[in-house]
Amino acid sequence: MTRVAVCNQKGGVGKTTVTLGLASAALHAGRSVAVVDLDPQASATWALGIDEPTGLAEAFATGGASSARDTFVESGWSPDLVVSCGGAELEGHVPDGGPKTSAKALGKVLGKSDTDIDWTFIDCPPGLGALTVNALAAADLAVVVVEPSAFSNNTMSAVADLVDDVWDRFNPSLDLAGVIMNRLPAIGREAHVRFDELGKIVGRSAIWKPAIARRVIIGEAQGARRPIHSYGSRAHDVIEAFDSHHRKLERIKKARQG
Ligand SMILES: Nc1ncnc2c1ncn2[C@@H]1O[C@H](COP(=O)(O)OP(=O)(O)OP(=O)(O)O)[C@@H](O)[C@H]1O
Ligand SMILES: [Mg+2]
Repeated sequence: MTRVAVCNQKGGVGKTTVTLGLASAALHAGRSVAVVDLDPQASATWALGIDEPTGLAEAFATGGASSARDTFVESGWSPDLVVSCGGAELEGHVPDGGPKTSAKALGKVLGKSDTDIDWTFIDCPPGLGALTVNALAAADLAVVVVEPSAFSNNTMSAVADLVDDVWDRFNPSLDLAGVIMNRLPAIGREAHVRFDELGKIVGRSAIWKPAIARRVIIGEAQGARRPIHSYGSRAHDVIEAFDSHHRKLERIKKARQG
């Protein structure tokens, strides 16, 4: 079991898209997957084909590892993909600025529930508040999703600082695995300027190749509540990018275990 927190302070950059894409790639590679939807908007839960979300917020309320297994429900994608559902109630259960223990609430709720699962992807809400802190405190790896824009680049150092802070205070086994660039247009000078600028901020090797292209089919797959891999050749460039990022995660996992 390896848990990956997919996060950024900035909204709308593609955290949910990357969570879904990585889940689709891992499934396609024959892995078992859990998605923990930590976003009160519950977009991932919906895109994974779940109409009546139950779970995570209630598990926070009861606060027990004993109930953790019950938080997973089977997705509409595959029996090998289970979901711990997001929902508006999440905000109320993980108060911002709480004591140290509140950062560990998610880890406590998950407990050993995903021990037998290959990959757990945690879709964080936008922001660096208590929910994201909980995700990082419960995760093995953090992946930061960015888009090629000045506003996105401006948030990068705050995210990196938070990962450091959570590592220092709550989770010594947390690693910042890398940065996934999403929504890169085929042409456009501004986007490529910002891509280069980000390379200077985080170091070129921290940005995983290839970037996820800006493609209409991504929204189409989400609207149809289907994995991107089910689109085959129509989405081949996007699929190849997510497969490549999944393989990168597999390599990191192996290196950490070895
Ligand atoms: N590569 C892409 N090409 C085209 N559309 C995309 C791409 N990535 C994301 N989108 C679209 O952009 C919107 C925002 O993406 P997404 O919901 O994944 O971002 P987010 O970071 O999870 O947002 P939030 O901060 O609200 O949780 C969605 O409508 C999604 O379909
Ligand atoms: Mg999202």
